[in-house]
Amino acid sequence: MPDLRSTTVATTIAVAIALALAMILSACAPSPATDSTQATIPSAVAFTADELPPIPQLDIDRVEQGQIIYGQYCSSCHGADLTGEPNWKVRNDDGSLRPPPHDNSGHTWHHSDQLLLSITRDSSDLAESRMPPFGDSLSDDEIMSILEFLKSVWGPEEREFQWRVTWSEQQRTDS
Ligand code: HEC
Repeated sequence: MPDLRSTTVATTIAVAIALALAMILSACAPSPATDSTQATIPSAVAFTADELPPIPQLDIDRVEQGQIIYGQYCSSCHGADLTGEPNWKVRNDDGSLRPPPHDNSGHTWHHSDQLLLSITRDSSDLAESRMPPFGDSLSDDEIMSILEFLKSVWGPEEREFQWRVTWSEQQRTDS
């Protein structure tokens, strides 16, 4: 565990992240009561961290490689156009979750690189998930290429949000 008391800044950021994650997690829970398809940017992440480095440039070769791998391993469930399964917010009859979109309309961009890598490699720990782990068929590097491809279709606000979450998590794990 990092020592969060080391600086006030670290504590402030940690609180903001905790709030943000709580909001994101609650936003992820499928709600049959709503069929809104447009995700909104959670406001709790509007904390300012002056040190936030610029968003890393996308590597075009990696984007192309990721698009090919996505087509082979992911598009059958998440859609060739990244829009997920129709009515993805509604559960299947057996209670399992439907594959969500990976474009702006989903919530993939709410999560850090680290979390997206681990969900894809090991599958999520959600009991209602039917997504298989890909750690046996894809290397971490190949999964990161898929993420690079997904980033290339997100809008500027989604990209910045996801970079913020990724960078913040890096600070916590590095400290
Ligand atoms: C057999 C269908 C299936 C395939 C193939 C599949 N997924 Fe999923 N995926 C799901 C389902 C169902 C969920 C929702 C349950 C969950 O979150 O675990 C999901 C959720 C996810 C999530 C978490 C939700 C989010 O948007 O943040 C990520 C990330 C993800 N998939 C990435 C991938 C990637 C990358 C591939 C290809 C390597 C892939 N999936 C292939 C079915 C699939």
